[in-house]
Amino acid sequence: MSELSGRRIVLGVTGGVAAYKAAELVRLLGKAGADVHVVLTAGGARFVTPVTFQALSGNPVWSDLWDPRVENNMAHIDLTRGTDAIVIAPGTADVIAKLVHGIADDLLTTLCLARECPLLVAPAMNRQMWEHPATRRNIAQLAADGATVVGPAAGDQACGETGMGRMLEPDELLEHLIAFFQPKLLAGRKVVMTAGPTFEAIDPVRGITNTSSGKMGYALAQACRRAGAEVVLVSGPTGLPAPLGVERVDVCSALQMRDAVVAALPGADVFIGVAAVADYRPLSAAEHKVKKSSAELTLTPNPDILAEVAARPDAPFCVGFAAESRELDAYAEGKRRAKRLPMLVGNLVQDGLGSDDNQVILYDDAGRHPQPRAPKTVVAQKIVEHLAGLLAMRATRLAR
Ligand code: PMT
Repeated sequence: MSELSGRRIVLGVTGGVAAYKAAELVRLLGKAGADVHVVLTAGGARFVTPVTFQALSGNPVWSDLWDPRVENNMAHIDLTRGTDAIVIAPGTADVIAKLVHGIADDLLTTLCLARECPLLVAPAMNRQMWEHPATRRNIAQLAADGATVVGPAAGDQACGETGMGRMLEPDELLEHLIAFFQPKLLAGRKVVMTAGPTFEAIDPVRGITNTSSGKMGYALAQACRRAGAEVVLVSGPTGLPAPLGVERVDVCSALQMRDAVVAALPGADVFIGVAAVADYRPLSAAEHKVKKSSAELTLTPNPDILAEVAARPDAPFCVGFAAESRELDAYAEGKRRAKRLPMLVGNLVQDGLGSDDNQVILYDDAGRHPQPRAPKTVVAQKIVEHLAGLLAMRATRLAR
């Protein structure tokens, strides 16, 4: 289940080379549970045929304002009613200009004018067209009129030039759409978090680490971002891509993680420690590969990043995690109290470490709140909702 599940989306495809990416977007939207209805302009049909979109969406494709399939001849009205959003991807300079000036000379522009739902536009054009003062004015006006402009990105263009104007990739557009429908529970908040394992070097090839995959922390970073927060994710070594819109700072050791957290803290409203930080590190990392004969390893404790952040006089709202192999309630609540945390997420290692799913219990001053086993993306959303509730309660208390 995603925020797009059951949503009716009208996808307008206009005449740009990036129209081929719209086919993949239709597939991704369908996979996310959306009901997609494609409106193809005459220009768009030059690049991709209606058959492709019909096959991928499982719905008829619309192009004609006078389509005889619509009994009342009101395709421009019927298509928008009951629709959750119109997305135009690619959005050419031409269609953007028409939208801004209220020109309604084909089905897509007419239904945009007649719409009652939000409009998202993903521009796609040559860099010079994007920079042209007319386009700059039109984009500003489009946003002022309430449309959401997503992208474009910079990069290589179909014309052989390089610059701003590439349409966002289908998976990026999908992420924008999911975020668009997400309640903005953390709008205006800055969240700093840690995720993944740390790696404590013994020598140039060996080290102490653990099997944290980073999946829980990355899912939570994405959920915070979708909820409108500015997110800085300080990450130990993982093979995961940074969630869209999240600032990731890559680190290796616990000491590096602490430095990166401290650097990111100014202005933070929330700190979340999801990382499985090594409690100890070798006293010193050998410059050269350690030989079999010198097998001794002296360890020294690492700083407890979460405890240090929570103890600061200007501490943000701190959320801890605890992974235990038994007696979860006792150990998790013990950690929450020892570090004076308003909220802690407890999970059993056998439930959460490395897997795609997790089963967590949320602990706060009001007690324990068990959650059902679910994909980490869903668990992350629950954590965000609980966190937002506690932040709201704290704000109310402070306002009294
Ligand atoms: O990465 P995944 O494969 O998705 O797995 C997710 C997870 C199981 C790692 C995650 O859900 C989790 O439980 N993370 C906390 C791991 C843990 O047991 O931490 P801890 O009990 O050692 O520490 C308690 C808290 O203090 C944690 O918030 C930890 O980030 C923080 N800590 C601990 C030690 C340290 N030196 N610095 C810290 O900040």
